[in-house]
Amino acid sequence: MSRLREACEIDLYTGDRAIARSELIDRVREKQGLVCLLTDQIDRGVIDAAPSLRIIANIAVGYNNIDVEHARVRGIVVTNTPDVLTEATADFTWGLILAITRRIVEGDRLVRRGEWKGWALDFMLGSELRGKRLGIIGMGRIGQAVAARAPAFGMAVATSSDRPFTARLRPEGPDLPKIASVSFDELITTSHVLTIHVPLTGETTHLIDARVLARMRRSAYLVNTSRGPVVDEAALGWALREGLIAGAALDVYEREPEVHRDLLGLENVILAPHLASATIETRTAMADLAATNVLRVLAGDQPLTPVNL
Ligand code: GLV
Repeated sequence: MSRLREACEIDLYTGDRAIARSELIDRVREKQGLVCLLTDQIDRGVIDAAPSLRIIANIAVGYNNIDVEHARVRGIVVTNTPDVLTEATADFTWGLILAITRRIVEGDRLVRRGEWKGWALDFMLGSELRGKRLGIIGMGRIGQAVAARAPAFGMAVATSSDRPFTARLRPEGPDLPKIASVSFDELITTSHVLTIHVPLTGETTHLIDARVLARMRRSAYLVNTSRGPVVDEAALGWALREGLIAGAALDVYEREPEVHRDLLGLENVILAPHLASATIETRTAMADLAATNVLRVLAGDQPLTPVNL
């Protein structure tokens, strides 16, 4: 905010919920730059309401909330905040993997209910990660950072080779373990933990549906820190209830902040409130990157992280 204030006149929305569409349309009218969040729908109507707009800077790596193509047609730069949140998101993903396979949240609930009767040899047994397969759907920056941590837990990594959103390994990326490249069908049927790191697009919407869930191992866990609509929540509730998979850990939902009621009553699912990048360090870096992008574009320079140039 202070960097932006030095160079621009600011109209700051201070509500604690996403700004109403009508208010956004009203307030964006004369603006040249818009800093927005993933909870703001920047659609054609919003973009067309702002004839002077030059940059839309999303404070998120995902930008499915923005009509990027329409912005491009209108000559408006759209930027996101990649890289700065990669490590925090990968750490959180591993937090979810450990928490669901070792039943940490379920155990915490049991203790708080006063139901713990003491240590027992066969009490609340979880599932070990060592020697198991970690299937990564989406081998972009975050998928690769998740893969890089797998050797610490003794997991073998696999990804799928027959989908366009996978396996663009970057030379400057992290040191990666050996990654098996298999078909999507083999990935979902053989993985013990399946973790999703794809952007939300038409192609990835309900990528994990009832058919996929039914083909997973009964002992498998599903982890989603990408976007909610990649997983069919109703189908996931069914799969968890029927024991078609062992458990799931979610950070994102189809209609945030709503969570499908079928999931709320199940013990074998962790429901995190979209926190994967939520550290002070990372959120500060995300905000700073968005500010830099705005300042550069308004000064006539190239932004650091455009998505539609
Ligand atoms: C968070 O979900 C992000 O896309 O940065």
